[in-house]
Amino acid sequence: MKDLNILVVHGPNLNLLGTREPETYGAQTLADINNELIDLGHSFGVGLATYQSNHEGALVDRLHQAVRDGVDGIVINPAAYTHTSIALRDALLGIAIPFVEVHLSNVYKRESFRHQSFLTDIAVGVVAGFGSNSYNLALRALLAHLQQNK
Ligand code: DQA
Repeated sequence: MKDLNILVVHGPNLNLLGTREPETYGAQTLADINNELIDLGHSFGVGLATYQSNHEGALVDRLHQAVRDGVDGIVINPAAYTHTSIALRDALLGIAIPFVEVHLSNVYKRESFRHQSFLTDIAVGVVAGFGSNSYNLALRALLAHLQQNK
């Protein structure tokens, strides 16, 4: 898997992980999650960058930058923008980089407004409901997908 370049993107309020609704999102901080992903990336020999923003436009800009950076695949937890953002959908369509949508919580067990995603139908796949392990599973699945489709 050498030479693969992965970007992990976290949307709004995920900077509060660890203190934010721990019964729903767990006790791990965003730094804990990012460090685990970086270690997992290293163990597969892939480069991995992480990015978090609370701002929709900043997330769009970072996705555009992924093309210039030669990113091969994206793991994204769009957080609340999952359910609202045509701008993120259009950015992901525009850059045409394969991505896996991630949620810590099982959004389908929660309020009905969380059942709607503007991204699921254009994602390689979705991982939801496994807490911070959702990200690990998503990264493994994305790498397997990229290997199979190169
Ligand atoms: C979330 C689920 C979203 O509905 C919510 O707005 C989030 C986090 C999750 O990881 O479970 O902020 O994406």
